Amino acid sequence: MQTLAQTLATQAIPASLAQLLQTLASTSVAISNAVRRGALAGVLGSTDHENVQGETQKKLDVITNEMLKDALRADGTVRALASEEEDFPVVLGDHGDYLVCFDPLDGSSNIDINSLVGTIFSVLPAPQGEVNEQSFLQSGRHQVAAGYVLYGPATMLALTTGHGVQLFTLDPQSGEYLLTNPAVSIPKDTAEFAINMSNQQFWEAPMQTYIGDLLLGKIGPREKSFNMRWIAAMVGDVHRVLSRGGIFTYPTDHKNPQKPYKLRLMYEANPMSLLVEQAGGKSSTGYQDILDIQPQAIHQRVAVILGSANEVATCLEYHSLDYSEEPEL
Ligand code: AHG
Ligand code: MN
Ligand code: MN
Repeated sequence: MQTLAQTLATQAIPASLAQLLQTLASTSVAISNAVRRGALAGVLGSTDHENVQGETQKKLDVITNEMLKDALRADGTVRALASEEEDFPVVLGDHGDYLVCFDPLDGSSNIDINSLVGTIFSVLPAPQGEVNEQSFLQSGRHQVAAGYVLYGPATMLALTTGHGVQLFTLDPQSGEYLLTNPAVSIPKDTAEFAINMSNQQFWEAPMQTYIGDLLLGKIGPREKSFNMRWIAAMVGDVHRVLSRGGIFTYPTDHKNPQKPYKLRLMYEANPMSLLVEQAGGKSSTGYQDILDIQPQAIHQRVAVILGSANEVATCLEYHSLDYSEEPEL
């Protein structure tokens, strides 16, 4: 089986990008080991600190953030990074062609129950001259690479450099990522959806109606039964979508009027959207392709609907209807 290095060598990408991706991959092997040792390494539980999102950081959020920061600083190809766990961008040096955005540990509420977590990353070109927060505010179409690592029963890396999506499985014996799926393709149709149903009363009319119709199954307008899954870690849910299709959404909700969206554009929605598009799927807010959004801030949040192309298109049809005549939901 091809190694990650051998696979990257077949893609028309700069040597500096291949080096950066190798660095991210080898850091993820170390993260995988830390996650796997869990309580034995004393890494479970929370800190007494909140991140810029107002969320209490888990010990592993902090540890994995430091591991990635240290590795990218040593790598030399990265000018600056933006992380879920850093209030501001961190400038690493005057050299290097890239900016990296990452969620060091996605699904961290799963950590203490020994369930799925992962790392998500997005690579953008660095501009000439000085870098600052503004330098990161490029739409997702500018990403030169994106991927995630899923720390599951097997540790897996999903990667795109704009040449489709490749899936690698970590061989724990050799510590190498080996190519296990060279061309991921998301089925166009699906009968599986992923949404946090507990927020239902707070959704807007299009999502209420769409999910309502899925739940009606064979007796509803869709005339087929749908299954539901929710892992509470975007990496896990998106991995399932890449593996067997599906629609995943974290839509707008009005539970907390200060926070109508949950997922972060720069290091969750954008990299996952590039992977999904490169695997033949679709990704939207309901009204715009996620990859076309002009970011306003590095920690901005966004509504996400992604997955099997035909099912996302159906969901978007619900968003194009006029609900103004509908009774208050
Ligand atoms: P993070 O752990 O990086 O803050 O991200 C968690 C996100 C995402 O991974 C997941 O899809 C969603 O939050 C889960 O939300 P609920 O807690 O509402 O299930
Ligand atoms: Mn996350
Ligand atoms: Mn996180």
